[in-house]
Amino acid sequence: MAKIVNSWNDFDPLKHVIVGRADHSCIPPEEPATSEKVPIDSPMRGSWGPRPLETVEKANAQLDNLVKVLEERGVKVDRPTPLQWNAPVITPDFRTDSMMTAMPPRDVLLTIGNEIIEAAMSFRCRFWEYLAYRPLLEEYFNEDPEFLWSQAPRPRLSDASYKHNYYDEQISLEERLERTANKDFVTTEKEILFDAADVLRLGKDLFIQHGLTTNRKAMEWFKRRYPEFRVHAVNFPGDPYPIHIDATFVPLRPGLIINNPHRRLPDEQRAIFEKNGWEIVDAAQPAHSEPPPLCYSSVWLSMNCLVLDHKTVIVEGSEVYQQEQMDKLGMNVIPIDFRDAYPFGGGLHCATADVYREGELQSYFDDVDFGDVTLV
Ligand code: ALA
Repeated sequence: MAKIVNSWNDFDPLKHVIVGRADHSCIPPEEPATSEKVPIDSPMRGSWGPRPLETVEKANAQLDNLVKVLEERGVKVDRPTPLQWNAPVITPDFRTDSMMTAMPPRDVLLTIGNEIIEAAMSFRCRFWEYLAYRPLLEEYFNEDPEFLWSQAPRPRLSDASYKHNYYDEQISLEERLERTANKDFVTTEKEILFDAADVLRLGKDLFIQHGLTTNRKAMEWFKRRYPEFRVHAVNFPGDPYPIHIDATFVPLRPGLIINNPHRRLPDEQRAIFEKNGWEIVDAAQPAHSEPPPLCYSSVWLSMNCLVLDHKTVIVEGSEVYQQEQMDKLGMNVIPIDFRDAYPFGGGLHCATADVYREGELQSYFDDVDFGDVTLV
């Protein structure tokens, strides 16, 4: 029996990770949560179904190359078992005609210490996505006597979980930004909803983005479920589509975070970092002015890096400005091509989920009242 699962943050030395697979990936049909997520000028609007095979093959080639690079550096890599994603999801509360992918494990699986939690995701098309990871979680459970396998309360995702007058084709960018600033999102507070990729783990502090995929009730759940942690809600007013924290606020090592300059953390929320000696620097500009075709994410996947340890980071191969900045910040940069994988669910951080990082639970923020919960 061995210890398999342990990870308290995104920067301690990575030893074991899950890397997604693009097989059978689909563009899901519109539904209450996704209509808000897909930008109005995206060709994904109005079209759904299996993604073209040649794009799947290209994405898989880059994912396989990521695996190779990780394995060469001594990181153990596991892969999910994709489902036939073009099947419908039918529950007592809703029906939608297709699922999505097993490419971004980061959205589904949240590792906190020796526990992996299957997230309470708000997209109906992602209702069964955790099943792709079940063979791995079963294995970890059989082999690691300390592994805690958890599932957040399963959301019903009935119509009551969404605001139905929220989405409007005519809404301007300014109005979107106003909604983000006012914390007015498409999900309601009917039930607990969160994507794992909205949770930034910094030891005893969890910084959780309140946005289109994670609601306040989730923060309350984390607070009750982890009374020994401090739960902080964060909100980034410059993001018109606030989904997932890892193209917005990305730690590189203890004391250093890069922040998307278009989505700066508001002053009152920065205080905890500043009081505790953390430096928050503006991330470098992306090298691209557009995301690749049929991509859900923004050009800021440039920041979506995978930190291997306090001095080493994998950055997308064409993101030369981000690489240069990381280098100046004292990181050794490993560039790898990954843009063909972006449309399937994001960048290098999205495409992975932590299983084991060396290191113990630490408190990086001593200048706060322990047990205090900041709900902004
Ligand atoms: N939602 C994040 C972005 O596109 C990943 O910037």
